[in-house]
Amino acid sequence: MTVASLAWHEAFAVDELWEGDFLDLEIDGEPVLVVHLVGGAIKAYQGVCPHQEVMLGDGDWDEDTGVLMCGGHRWEFDMSAGVGINPAGCTLYEYPTKVDDGVVFVGVPQDGERHYNRCPGS
Ligand code: FES
Repeated sequence: MTVASLAWHEAFAVDELWEGDFLDLEIDGEPVLVVHLVGGAIKAYQGVCPHQEVMLGDGDWDEDTGVLMCGGHRWEFDMSAGVGINPAGCTLYEYPTKVDDGVVFVGVPQDGERHYNRCPGS
């Protein structure tokens, strides 16, 4: 199996996104939601809901629990791992991230695919 090369995109300075906050970005033409979890981890996921493609950044984010509720139909996701809580069994596509010299970079695989998990149902 071949692994697609990553293109690293400079997203923002670390101090532009406080712990407990998130940003909606478009990176390499793809909607990406970047969350800065309480405790310091920075994660990047597909920016649209796997149910019916409502923007996840328009949902309700509880910074203390790390749970985001989609504004479309109230599906909930644990943003520390990108997994569905309600309903369970649905996982958000996660982009790799890295911090270099105070700048956050998001990696996008150069595989010609759309990086989006879809979980129809409910
Ligand atoms: S579009 Fe997100 S829960 Fe339906």
